[in-house]
Amino acid sequence: MYFDSRVGVVIRCLRAVASNQVARLAPRFYLNVTSQTGRGSHVETVKEVADYFFECFDDYFRKLGVPREDITAYLSGKSVLEYGPGDLPGVGMLMYAHGAEKVICVDRFSMVSINQKNTQILENIISRLDGEALERVMSCFNDFGEISSGFAENRICYYIHPNGLSGLKNSVDLVYSRAVLEHVNDLYATFLDMASALKTGGTAIHKVDLKSHGLHEKNPLDFLVWPTRLWNLMYAHKGAPNRWRLNKYLEVIEMIPVDTILIEATELAAESDVDNIGPYLAKPFQEVSKEDLAWLGFWLVLRKSDGSAMRNVQDVSSNIKEPLINSGRADVIFDSRMPAMN
Ligand SMILES: C[S@@+](CC[C@H](N)C(=O)[O-])C[C@H]1O[C@@H](n2cnc3c(N)ncnc32)[C@H](O)[C@@H]1O
Repeated sequence: MYFDSRVGVVIRCLRAVASNQVARLAPRFYLNVTSQTGRGSHVETVKEVADYFFECFDDYFRKLGVPREDITAYLSGKSVLEYGPGDLPGVGMLMYAHGAEKVICVDRFSMVSINQKNTQILENIISRLDGEALERVMSCFNDFGEISSGFAENRICYYIHPNGLSGLKNSVDLVYSRAVLEHVNDLYATFLDMASALKTGGTAIHKVDLKSHGLHEKNPLDFLVWPTRLWNLMYAHKGAPNRWRLNKYLEVIEMIPVDTILIEATELAAESDVDNIGPYLAKPFQEVSKEDLAWLGFWLVLRKSDGSAMRNVQDVSSNIKEPLINSGRADVIFDSRMPAMN
């Protein structure tokens, strides 16, 4: 056995399975008691969260090679789609402020909440904008500049779908996400949705975090030793990572009509950690190369190639093995509007 204490393993399993059932049966309650924001469990100040949204926004354009002074020209007239905004569409608001015509956010879980703290975060973001960006951001609410009136749906909208899919066809110019793809329940479905939503020539940019999200013990890769069924029993409903490694992303990208513009590691595991975990890996990871296992995160930029290729892609879904996290119905309320203010 990989872990030192059998008793420790049993206790961890029992606790994780029990909380997973709570998350399955009462997802809203689970989100509330765990105070999930999508940015981890540490306490953050209003300014830190606002800084985070600006950092995400800047990162996307730096990776896309769009100079700061050209961002508005780049975004003007574009429709953008964000997967998994977390509890606040802060980046989406910045996209709108800087020229995007429409921002569509889609999530598997109903996380957005315009509570007192999140209102202050939005105010902080707005206070740092000026000129045309300030004018635009004020107009993204139902009542000009009134956060409490909610986002105007024709400018920034938020959809919940059981598998976090947009269902859009050839309608967006830019797709982006950060710290989301490692959580999706069906990676192929999400990539197919993304390719389908993009117009031909449109761009997708994602930052993917392949780390354990605090679920490892002695080695950053030891969360890959848990057998898939047990991992699902313990974590499938709690937004834990789906554990897919780089090889799976490359396999999925091959199946959809996109060209890879950039794929770049953000962090690599130590060679000794990769070597040490090898003999203990659960089945889906035993064939993964050491090079792919070492990737602990990456940037990905894709461009949608000729849209006609979309006609054939549905057929290949049978080539995909079982998703590591089951794509069962998420028990959430379907709503196409921002949740009521509280
Ligand atoms: C770690 S949070 C990241 C939130 C935000 N992007 C950020 O950087 O703060 C992961 C987000 O992905 C969402 N998510 C999980 N599965 C998803 C799916 N299948 N499709 C779309 N979003 C999903 C979660 O609900 C959550 O909003």
